[in-house]
Amino acid sequence: MILTPGLTFIARILAGLGLFALGAVCVRRILDRYAVFLSNALFLALSAVSIPALFAFLILLRDARHRWHAAALGARMVPKVRGKWIGNLDILKMMLDNHYRGYPADGLWEATEARGPVFNMNILWDNMVFTSQPEHIQLILATDFNNYVKGERFQKNMSAMLGIGVFNSDGNMWKFHRSMTRPFFVRDRVTHFDTFDRHTNTAISLMKSRLRAGYAVDFQDLIGRFTLDSATEFLFGSCVNSLEAGIPYPDNSTLPALSSSLPTTSTNNLAREFSNAFLEAQDAISNRERFNLIWPLLEIRKDKTEEPMKILNAFIQPIVTEAVEKMKNMQGLTSEEKEDVEDNETLLDHLVKFTKDPVVLKDETLNIMIAGRDTTAATLTFVVYFLSTYPDITTRLRKEILEMIGPSKRPSYDDIRGMKFLRAVINETLRLYPVVPFNVRESVHATTWPSPDPAQPPLYIPAGVKVPYSVFMMHRRKDLWGPDAEVFDPDRFLDERLKKYLSPRPFIFLPFNAGPRICLGQQFAYNEMSFFLIRLLQNFSSFTHLPELRPPRFEIPKEWKGAPGRKGIDNFFPKMTLTMYAGGGLWIIAREVGDI
Ligand code: HEM
Ligand SMILES: *[C@@H]1O[C@H](CO)[C@@H](O)[C@H](O)[C@H]1NC(C)=O
Ligand SMILES: *[C@@H]1O[C@H](CO)[C@@H](O)[C@H](O)[C@H]1NC(C)=O
Ligand SMILES: *[C@@H]1O[C@H](CO)[C@@H](O)[C@H](O)[C@H]1NC(C)=O
Repeated sequence: MILTPGLTFIARILAGLGLFALGAVCVRRILDRYAVFLSNALFLALSAVSIPALFAFLILLRDARHRWHAAALGARMVPKVRGKWIGNLDILKMMLDNHYRGYPADGLWEATEARGPVFNMNILWDNMVFTSQPEHIQLILATDFNNYVKGERFQKNMSAMLGIGVFNSDGNMWKFHRSMTRPFFVRDRVTHFDTFDRHTNTAISLMKSRLRAGYAVDFQDLIGRFTLDSATEFLFGSCVNSLEAGIPYPDNSTLPALSSSLPTTSTNNLAREFSNAFLEAQDAISNRERFNLIWPLLEIRKDKTEEPMKILNAFIQPIVTEAVEKMKNMQGLTSEEKEDVEDNETLLDHLVKFTKDPVVLKDETLNIMIAGRDTTAATLTFVVYFLSTYPDITTRLRKEILEMIGPSKRPSYDDIRGMKFLRAVINETLRLYPVVPFNVRESVHATTWPSPDPAQPPLYIPAGVKVPYSVFMMHRRKDLWGPDAEVFDPDRFLDERLKKYLSPRPFIFLPFNAGPRICLGQQFAYNEMSFFLIRLLQNFSSFTHLPELRPPRFEIPKEWKGAPGRKGIDNFFPKMTLTMYAGGGLWIIAREVGDI
């Protein structure tokens, strides 16, 4: 019999109640001894209310302390969301319903309209200060970086998959991980272009032959394989070859993971298992964070990370062991040699120069894979969605590619740097659909934030509270981006709107976060995405989206039609695990260059 997280959780609660009952019996004995008369019914009733009463008292005391401290700092309390049910459970229910059936930020815009861009969600009396205000996000990520951590609660929820890697650590552990990994990402690494080129060719050939046979292609599935193959190769030097395993057909795909209806071959098996396990583990840990304290109740029958982590570990462990062995055979490196990243080196080769600890090595490589794979794949999917929706943009982008690179030349690092419109298209996509739309930190010490309304006193932020923030919402605010904030228009990164909105307030655009924990792979991601898009548009001149090919459960809810903003316009279903993706995929057909 294995103790699942759910059973452990329930056992703890029962143990707590047992202790309480024992306490009550003792109290009863003492009362009896001193001949204090209480009927059994009254005593039971008093015992039963004593727990909530104590709880309420502690909450009131905490809130009073906060009000007092706020007053001492000349600050005011963050406006609270007032739900209809006790403990704002209706708000929690709405957030969870929206997670499964809603459009991102549903419910949060309403709260913003009622209370402004900062509010305390106060779910189960837990203070949670939500913000979409650039000045606050700047404080959290950059100017007051030391006062905000991922925090113990977050780390616990995530640790089954992320371990102690760069993504999931704070303080010195984080510094250690970040400084050992960073050199791998600073140079313009020519070797990656070889990797990209090979896998890009495979992906585009697959797409061509499927289209020529008269079928549509799920671009998200295809690009997910491309990023999986590229990532396993440059991280571990051992590619899972998911592209070779073949892509699904529209009528027998079982999305979102790699299709299980494909013929079973050994490459196919590994690719499918790895990819499914990766998705399953991510789904489990993101749900843990979503349900926070009560997540064990979702895992009463089994630990949902156990099986997928077994599969991921079985793939990574032997590779790590081999890399460590190889390193042991080479003798001591000077620190200069350590800093240097050699061509052809995988991330793992680089990391074994710093540590031989297999757990650290496994955690770190898996962390980078999580950080780098789905983010890039989803962003490219959103770009292709926009290219299919706005053919004029496709034409302009092709024109830039043909003028600056030509119809068939392999793009170089310098080519990519000069491509302003391509960069603007990627930026505009990341603005409207940032793949990390919501994020969270925890405050360390109590502090204050400037009030969004300058006429009012600053806002009080208690110590040790969760501070969720949304760049998704910030990126769509009309007061920050102008009246056309919900319009897809890459030119806003190039024309006078740049000087008007973004240049004076750079913190209104944060798809990669900012400050000391800014995305390590930002340049890498722009390179990889640009490379693929250039190759794609050298081979195809237009794209057509076929939303009717999505599985029925990803049909867009009727209520969305006519809703304000992109919710009423866009024809795909944005879903979320740790990162955002297109639910049910993105089925497209495309016109090959040369075809009439
Ligand atoms: C479009 C692509 C990408 C986007 C939008 C993106 C976005 C982000 C964001 C928002 C964070 C901050 C998360 C947090 O601190 O809570 C982050 C962190 C990180 N990203 Fe990316 N990322 C992308 C691609 C990549 C790639 C390709 C890599 C590496 C191959 C990568 C490596 C990392 C790492 C290592 C961190 C953790 C940094 C730290 O905590 O110190 N990312 N990314
Ligand atoms: C999937 O669909 C394609 C095309 O309709 C078909 O050729 C293939 O046999 C199908 N595969 C399975 C396992 O049903
Ligand atoms: C894409 O187009 C270029 C230029 O025509 C060509 O050299 C390349 O082989 C094509 N790629 C594929 C996979 O067909
Ligand atoms: C795109 O956004 C980045 C910030 O993430 C900025 O440095 C760059 O100048 C932008 N480029 C264009 C062309 O929009």
